[in-house]
Amino acid sequence: MLQIIELSYQSLTNAEDLIIISDLDKIDIMREEDPHTAVEHYDSILQTRNSPRAFYGKALALLQISRNVKSNKILESAIFNFKEVLALGKIVPDALFRLAGDEAIQQMKFRGFNTQAVKVIQTLIHRFPEDPMLKQTLGVQYLIIGDNKSAKNIFEKILITNPENGFALVHLGFILKTQSGDNLHELEMGVSYLSRGLATRAEGVLEGNFFFHLGDGLRRLGRFSEADAVYQEGADLNIFKSFWQRSIYNVDRLKSQPIWTIDETTYVSNLNNFVNNWKIIRLEAEKIFKARKFEAESENLKDSGTWNQFELYRQGRKLEKNCQLAPTTCSIVEKFEAAKTNRRGQIKFSVMLNGTHVHAHSGPTNCRLRAHLGLVVPDNANENNLKLRVADNILTWKEGELFIFDDSFDHEVWNNSGDRIVLIVDMWHPELTSHERNTLPSI
Ligand code: OGA
Ligand code: MN
Repeated sequence: MLQIIELSYQSLTNAEDLIIISDLDKIDIMREEDPHTAVEHYDSILQTRNSPRAFYGKALALLQISRNVKSNKILESAIFNFKEVLALGKIVPDALFRLAGDEAIQQMKFRGFNTQAVKVIQTLIHRFPEDPMLKQTLGVQYLIIGDNKSAKNIFEKILITNPENGFALVHLGFILKTQSGDNLHELEMGVSYLSRGLATRAEGVLEGNFFFHLGDGLRRLGRFSEADAVYQEGADLNIFKSFWQRSIYNVDRLKSQPIWTIDETTYVSNLNNFVNNWKIIRLEAEKIFKARKFEAESENLKDSGTWNQFELYRQGRKLEKNCQLAPTTCSIVEKFEAAKTNRRGQIKFSVMLNGTHVHAHSGPTNCRLRAHLGLVVPDNANENNLKLRVADNILTWKEGELFIFDDSFDHEVWNNSGDRIVLIVDMWHPELTSHERNTLPSI
């Protein structure tokens, strides 16, 4: 055992460092207890030599300090010192080069330096061209910085040498599916890659996003029963909360049901404020509509027709300019803590013109409930020509009436009646604690 530890330690130590290995070992040991003094000792070594291990040890010490005092600046100097190890190039032993590179990447990602992380991954690939995991990591990192073209490229490259690589298959499928737009051929390719990739069950493929987009892609190709099988599989594997509830960003214990009553939400008086003032709210919405201020819904969910929105709050932030055009509506929202602070939702007017179908879809999180207040509903509307399906329930809108559903459940909309306007208000799921409401990352 002792010998193994020594060996692995030696593999971090080049010939130059071997001369001072006992000093380096001692500083490493004291680093845990006293990272500040360790930094001084590493520095004094670095004054006279380019010691890879001293740079690495210094970086680890700074990392520890940055965590103790919660300092981004110190974290950044830790990152800088990990990069110094890499900058020494050939004189750094392989194992140390890899350790320093992996740490640099992890800390850069934590700090949000995603483009820098791409560069470090490329440096590691240059040094370890045979390592397939690094190429996967690079592909994912390209996706994170929004460079889908480079991501696609690298996953295609992986598949040339390893056509059954499940990780590359699902990622390439995801890219093709999400960028396919109206291109049915690309959609089919995406679906096929996603499906082959998921079947491998390789590490990293059993993710909600891949099941979600495979099911959605199949539905858009009209292959509904295959889609349902994917959703059922996702539910059986606990990747979805259930067959119908397909959100990805979940707090697990929350009560799950597609339709909620006003009483069940606990926000009775706040929600009644909307109902009691619905006519003023409608006036504001109509004025905005007539001024052509609504914008197209942006998530590629619309199948046919026209579906536009006018946002008042986004991710818990008030859109001041827009609220100036809807002062009463926003003043009601301002009193509604669980809605105006909802970083996982929106508040908006939604207009849907006659002849619109919105593809079945589900929202990203189970942390919100969604209220719809009917503002303009055509006289001829009924449950056949104007409807919202949520899971296996059918709802329709009535002027001045409000319903609440959980949009993480599969839902779909048809309007074949006339032009319809509603107010949509997202609120925190009532079972979330105030700590969760304050700390959950926004969506
Ligand atoms: C929703 C939704 C469409 C609409 O609120 O999640 O898809 O405007 N609604 O009726
Ligand atoms: Mn929706």
